[in-house]
Amino acid sequence: MAGGAIVNSGSGKEYPGKLTLYVLVTCVVAATGGLIFGYDIGISGGVTSMDSFLEKFFPEVHRKQQADRSTNQYCQFDSQLLQTFTSSLYLAALVASFFASGVTRAFGRKWSMFGGGVTFLVGAALNGAAKDVAMLIIGRILLGIGVGFANQSVPVYLSEMAPARLRGMLNIGFQLMITIGILAANLINYGTNKIKGGWGWRVSLALAAVPAAIITVGSLFLPDTPNSLLERGFPERAQRMLRRIRGTDDVGAEYADLVAASEESKLVENPWANILQRRYRPQITMALLIPFFQQLTGINVIMFYAPVLFRTLGFGSNASLMSSVITGLVNVFATFVSIFTVDRLGRRKLFLEGGAQMIVCQIVVGTLIAIKFGTSGDGGDLSKGYAAIVVLFICVYVAGFAWSWGPLGWLVPSEIFPLEIRSAGQSINVSVNMLFTFAIAQAFLTMLCHMKFGLFYFFAGWVVIMSFFVFFFLPETKNVPIEEMVLVWRKHWFWGRFIAADDVNGVEMGIGKPKSGDK
Ligand code: BGC
Repeated sequence: MAGGAIVNSGSGKEYPGKLTLYVLVTCVVAATGGLIFGYDIGISGGVTSMDSFLEKFFPEVHRKQQADRSTNQYCQFDSQLLQTFTSSLYLAALVASFFASGVTRAFGRKWSMFGGGVTFLVGAALNGAAKDVAMLIIGRILLGIGVGFANQSVPVYLSEMAPARLRGMLNIGFQLMITIGILAANLINYGTNKIKGGWGWRVSLALAAVPAAIITVGSLFLPDTPNSLLERGFPERAQRMLRRIRGTDDVGAEYADLVAASEESKLVENPWANILQRRYRPQITMALLIPFFQQLTGINVIMFYAPVLFRTLGFGSNASLMSSVITGLVNVFATFVSIFTVDRLGRRKLFLEGGAQMIVCQIVVGTLIAIKFGTSGDGGDLSKGYAAIVVLFICVYVAGFAWSWGPLGWLVPSEIFPLEIRSAGQSINVSVNMLFTFAIAQAFLTMLCHMKFGLFYFFAGWVVIMSFFVFFFLPETKNVPIEEMVLVWRKHWFWGRFIAADDVNGVEMGIGKPKSGDK
């Protein structure tokens, strides 16, 4: 029988134990995996707006942009090749995350992080030394493989290490590192843009080696999660680790639940075939829709192309990089809001509030741009005051994302899957995220050219849809132990029909009833 005291917190079962320094440090180190992703997101936009970079690799775009000052503002940067530079990384990450799933399951989460870090290092070196577009793109592909591995393993690692009642907070460390990576990249671009010799972009691209070195070395010191140790057949080590990370010997109840989960997991030969079973329908729906929706908020239009976007709006090259530094700062600070509220307010409230905020801002920004540039794109430069208002609303929009879809887009999928399909589920999440990150990166400049200010309304429309989706279909998962999540689905008005009584397997919320195989 599951031993140990179990506290019923009202919103779920609570195991004894506290937040130990050990877990905190481990989670901070693991979360640095987010840095490489963030650095990438932030660096390409700045680099692609640097004259020396464009001249060297994309002379056509550069010439057009220099010559075309008076024509359509919306279409200045429309180049498939330039977009391929930004987006190739995400395609590579998409493919890599499927391979990462096997590694993460068979060898543990930390080796996926390590592999990601090393590949990323090589990519950074290639990019910094790039002589032609081919070298640039091969470098980006290696970076992408690194991101695929890190994003596949880090969120799962964090969710498994954290005690249930602080899982949101610790997991969002990943998103915090993403935002810090983006900001660092923005600041570095701002500095390297001032380098006279025209090689500033090399510094920007090569410095990706720094976050890569951090996660590569850091991952070597990380312990495995108890869930992963059990999954790989090391029960004693798993129990010891659980005691250590919870800071108590009273881990019987949690350990029993992990054992039950791992026994389930061992029955599953091929998680990819299993994931299609009816009882996983709710989780798979979330793993497909949450990352899709996250990208359809349009956030990466700002993240990748802020400097380009601000230049399109008539800011000078320096002013536009500065404006993206501002949005980068807002992104970091607003993430703290979710860190401190996610386990109290819950996921749903943040999703819904953040969504409403984004909708309003997108409509305002679209309208401001429409007033100034209309559909022709001719309108000259923005006045200082007008530009400041546009930047302000973009910042409020970024804040809304930073405490809702940003962190929750990684947290929720990492906490809803049962162990037996967790790695596979996370791969789906990462690949869908990357697919649509790719699509937006590839299509944005062209979409801006054709949809003009309507692009902002387009994304606002999507945020309306996803907010309704969350309201009706996403159950609250705060404070629920990760191996008890099936109960949340079972109790849901819609998803309940997909979960048979059998699937719940004796897990009962707040009672700690023994499970099959739990002696
Ligand atoms: C998203 C990225 C985005 C970033 C912005 C992440 O959660 O996955 O696509 O660029 O947040 O902070």
